[in-house]
Amino acid sequence: MKQITDYIDKNKNNYINELKDFLRIPSISTDPNNKEDINRCAQFVKSKLIDAGLNKVKVIKTKRHPLVYGEWLKAKEKPTVLIYGHYDVQPVDPIDLWDTPPFEPTIRNNKIFARGATDDKGQAFMHIKSVEAYLKTIGKLPVNVKFIIEGEEEVGSSSLEQFIKENKKLLKCDAVLISDTALYDVGTPTLTYGLRGLAYMEVEVTGPSKDLHSGSFGGAIANPINILAEMINKLMDKNGKITIPAFYDDVVKITKKERDNFKKLNFSDKKFAKEVGVAELKGEKGFSTLERLWVRPTLDCNGIIGGFTKEGAKTVLPSKVKAKISMRLVPNQNPKKISKAFTKYIKAITPKSVKVKVSDLHGAIPALTPLEDKATVAASNAMEKAFKKQIVYMREGGSVPIVPVFAKQLNAPVVLMGLGLNTENLHSPNEHFNLNHFQLGIKSSAYFFDEFAK
Ligand code: BES
Ligand code: MN
Ligand code: MN
Repeated sequence: MKQITDYIDKNKNNYINELKDFLRIPSISTDPNNKEDINRCAQFVKSKLIDAGLNKVKVIKTKRHPLVYGEWLKAKEKPTVLIYGHYDVQPVDPIDLWDTPPFEPTIRNNKIFARGATDDKGQAFMHIKSVEAYLKTIGKLPVNVKFIIEGEEEVGSSSLEQFIKENKKLLKCDAVLISDTALYDVGTPTLTYGLRGLAYMEVEVTGPSKDLHSGSFGGAIANPINILAEMINKLMDKNGKITIPAFYDDVVKITKKERDNFKKLNFSDKKFAKEVGVAELKGEKGFSTLERLWVRPTLDCNGIIGGFTKEGAKTVLPSKVKAKISMRLVPNQNPKKISKAFTKYIKAITPKSVKVKVSDLHGAIPALTPLEDKATVAASNAMEKAFKKQIVYMREGGSVPIVPVFAKQLNAPVVLMGLGLNTENLHSPNEHFNLNHFQLGIKSSAYFFDEFAK
């Protein structure tokens, strides 16, 4: 291993420079204007997999954004690891709040700032470099590896889901390794064993058939924005419980053991509140912050579009308003079932004075990964070796929609070896990735192959 970790140390600056090239490509998956950038980014990943020494590297077309595949299968009788990551990134707005442009990677305080730095280009890149370190030094890997890097994670991974279902043989493996989550804290090796799911809805409320003068008509006609605000308010009670009938039916209760484990993490509400700039935390009554984030479902309005939103004042009674509402789900809630319950309830609380349309934008099934599995044990040993510190286990409030699909379709354990931090501004201005963690991630990946081969 020494030869490999030395090589990783020696190439630190090369890795950073290559990562910068990756980060310069604005591969925003949700915006049709970036379609060419997405394709260019897939080609970039392909070239990096080839340079790393992988075989059968190819860009695979899908209905939407391409997948990139590569493999190295010369470790006879040894297990196979499927490495997953995503090269697509979130939009950059509000652009004014970036200290440096989102696609001009810049290093400050040993952190690299760019859209996608931590989510997920920086993290996906670690595994490409660890494979390369083996193949460029000893010329072989202790395990077989397959890579599948996609371009649709931020929009729900539907092409990859279909691809997995149709290519189970190609993707057959003994474990799936993913770095797209966070460390518990700076410098703390962490494995994540739970992800929340998601049901993402859009509610459109229509009042009058056109915008009206708010003087001539205001007071006599229902204002769709006011009505929608009332409806949103009805979705949660004063104790932070979601009021949709049957919403909690399938929620698995937290065990005493897990509750105790969370307590041992010594989470500081005060520090957390300070980091996000709020005076006080708020959430479901009867649960700690970590429980609220990791094992309890939520409902949040992500945005409202409607009426007059430009500078100054315009007196108008708008015809239409739309709200984007997401629910984070926990085992064993099902996004389709929740979406139905939501739609039914919204319709039930809509007054006759307006019309409503509810759409299901996308969903993700919540996931729990096995902690006793050989792959998880190997990952925990690997991270402990790289970080020279004891491993911590946590759950995550975010979602990686493809995780439960891998687990079910490939019948393989998924290892969530995330190297990001929840404070690295993913999906927000000034996204960055800690370069120490980047380097430690490359080593953790290298140690993982070694441990998993044992
Ligand atoms: N990498 C994130 C998931 C994540 C978020 C992990 C925070 C750790 C901390 C992933 O790219 C993501 O953003 N997922 C979306 C899924 C959605 C768009 C289907 C999410 O959680 O909102
Ligand atoms: Mn991600
Ligand atoms: Mn993301």
